[in-house]
Amino acid sequence: MSFTADRLLLFGATGDLSQRMLLPSLCALHADELIDPGLKIIGTARSDLDDAGFRQFAREALEKYLPANRRGGMASFLNRLSYQPLDATTLEGYEELARKVGPTDKGLAIFLSTAPSLFEPTIKGLQHAGLDGETVRMCLEKPLGIDLASSCEINDAVAGAYPEDRIFRIDHYLGKETVQNLLALRFANIMFEPLWNAAHIDHVQITVGETVGLESRVAYYDDSGALRDMVQNHMLQLLALVAMEPPGQFDATAVRDEKVKVLRSLRKVETGETVTGQYRAGAIGGQAVPGYDEELGQESDTETFVAIKAHVDNWRWKGVPFYLRTGKRLPRRVTEIIVHFRCVPHSIFAGKGATMQPNKLVIGIQPEENITLSLMSKVPGLDREGIRLRQVPLNIALPDAFSGTVRRIAYERLLLDLIEGDQTLFVRRDEVEAQWEWIDAIRMLWADDDLKPKTYTAGSWGPSAAIALAERDGVSWHE
Ligand code: BG6
Repeated sequence: MSFTADRLLLFGATGDLSQRMLLPSLCALHADELIDPGLKIIGTARSDLDDAGFRQFAREALEKYLPANRRGGMASFLNRLSYQPLDATTLEGYEELARKVGPTDKGLAIFLSTAPSLFEPTIKGLQHAGLDGETVRMCLEKPLGIDLASSCEINDAVAGAYPEDRIFRIDHYLGKETVQNLLALRFANIMFEPLWNAAHIDHVQITVGETVGLESRVAYYDDSGALRDMVQNHMLQLLALVAMEPPGQFDATAVRDEKVKVLRSLRKVETGETVTGQYRAGAIGGQAVPGYDEELGQESDTETFVAIKAHVDNWRWKGVPFYLRTGKRLPRRVTEIIVHFRCVPHSIFAGKGATMQPNKLVIGIQPEENITLSLMSKVPGLDREGIRLRQVPLNIALPDAFSGTVRRIAYERLLLDLIEGDQTLFVRRDEVEAQWEWIDAIRMLWADDDLKPKTYTAGSWGPSAAIALAERDGVSWHE
């Protein structure tokens, strides 16, 4: 059923995500008049605040996390907010919450950003208070479990109250403009698609590098590690967008049908196809930073870096490796996808001494949003001593191409789609399960092989074994 919600209920309203992302995104949407003036936002969490206290909390978060030029109309935004304290683990309290929310006949969107252990009691409480009717949507923020079994448990609990077409699972990478642009690049241009296959692509690299360490998420991160924190969700979504077949149209069913086929075609990773690492003290951008064990205050086997050689077993990608790597405390914050094409089948310049390099498409997702295609070009000259060829970049910096457009937080797009009911950029249950199945097999392999993370110095690109993983195949990581 299509409806635009006129109420948004935020669980975990005083949490980190709410402060950094949700409240700033909603305020920015409000400032740009993109949400209906009638939309009411109700926050709930354990903290004992009243409406005024929550508004003050929100004001401080906005002043801290939203740039001043996007805070227009902050006072009227704060007037949309109200708050109801709740102990999510007991049924008492949900009726009071429902009274605070008010009528839901026009539409209620619930955003659940709480510890996974609270998912089930919260769903029960919401059902108990009647907040599960046909006009209620449920949005879930990660972590949605720690493996396939626990993710199925959460999904089953949610499915008991809300049908799949009203469940919105967030992967905030899908809210990033440049990630969506991947689809435009592939499917709104004629020149890439005929080459986008094993006949013309040698391999693909996906790197998500972060300079931050543990931040304040000690307990969560040490239980999770890089594989579950970054690969299971964001990196596999990027891989699926790169590898999927063209969907019939840009809508939730068509796009997600194609992505899930890719995820189900991922080959089980074998021994020798992954490398894990954990950072030790080093320096990033000239600043000394402590090692993971020092930040944690104890030794741990959790990986803060992972590199994987993945394969998509289907006709299009037969024999094309996808090299994935992600880690904390790497030299720079960067998310990019590199598509390495094959060499031309025959060089007409070989007899003239020229060497060739294959074309390369670099899709910069963040912080630089650009697309660079490296092409071979003749070095100008009279060529008396032979022809010289060199790679030159064809470079599109998206902020320049679209100057004047606002750079939005990924959650702005996702919250708006949630309120309006468009699931295209949300992850469907079958996708999540296919993702976990592949990840669980990797974890099982690590356990069987008794693989422990190798150390790497903070500020480096991970353990040297990660470089070897690619170099064994004659591939160098793009840096
Ligand atoms: C989150 C992870 O999902 O994504 C974090 O839990 C990570 O560990 C973050 O830092 C990265 O997001 P972004 O948008 O900064 O690349």
